[in-house]
Amino acid sequence: MKLILLGPPGAGKGTQAAKIAERYSLAHISTGDMLRAEIASETPLGLRAKALIDEGELVPDEIIIGMVRNRISQDDCVNGFLLDGFPRTIPQAEQLLTFSEIDRAVLISVPDELIIDRMQKRRVCPSCKRTYSVDPDAASSFSCEDCGTELIIRDDDKPETVAHRLAVYAEQTFPLVEFFRERGLLTEVDGSGSVDGVAESIFAELSAAEAPVEDALF
Ligand code: AP5
Repeated sequence: MKLILLGPPGAGKGTQAAKIAERYSLAHISTGDMLRAEIASETPLGLRAKALIDEGELVPDEIIIGMVRNRISQDDCVNGFLLDGFPRTIPQAEQLLTFSEIDRAVLISVPDELIIDRMQKRRVCPSCKRTYSVDPDAASSFSCEDCGTELIIRDDDKPETVAHRLAVYAEQTFPLVEFFRERGLLTEVDGSGSVDGVAESIFAELSAAEAPVEDALF
């Protein structure tokens, strides 16, 4: 299965991607994680990307498209993959469809107020990359349950940057909803419930999309 996860920043794409990838044995490809790895390694691409990401801007299409094209040609993608955070612009989507088929684009919809709340609570482990949702009023610092490292706030989760990321999403990424709907590839789920509830909705929609027509009717 070849899937895309669409949705605004903080919608829960990374959280759900981990569950979907495990359930269907798919390679989880997060362009955000790939860029953060480049930043951590201080590569020329990472240094260029950091300035853009910290401002809430998108990294240029030509860089991202090349990165994804190369990634999905690797062996672990033979049985399918899940794209988390790509495509994010119409040119990225058009290019993707020239070098890969796509079975479904799953849109996780979440209202802006909930996104802002989730971003304020998000902490990440800089070591193993696990993502947490914490109560910022409960403590001033938190540790990773897996490796004990102190959790950090992502540089692009500052309130002013989150507001800009939401505006960039509305302008540049939201048009992809219509792009995939027109091609009969869009599935939309309500992402405002619990993590497990949203996952169950996604699994149900994917099963329904895979079922033969007679199963879907009766
Ligand atoms: P990226 O890392 O992809 O950021 P994003 O798309 O903005 O998404 P986030 O990682 O912020 O959120 P998410 O939807 O994964 O939510 P999460 O599961 O963490 O990209 C970062 C930057 O890289 C971009 O801004 C851009 O600059 C650049 N970039 C990346 N791809 C690019 C591309 N294709 N083209 C150009 N530039 C690109 O959940 C958020 C929080 O909510 C967590 O704390 C989580 O625990 C919590 N949570 C999740 N689900 C629930 C739930 N159901 N209930 C309660 N809490 C929940």
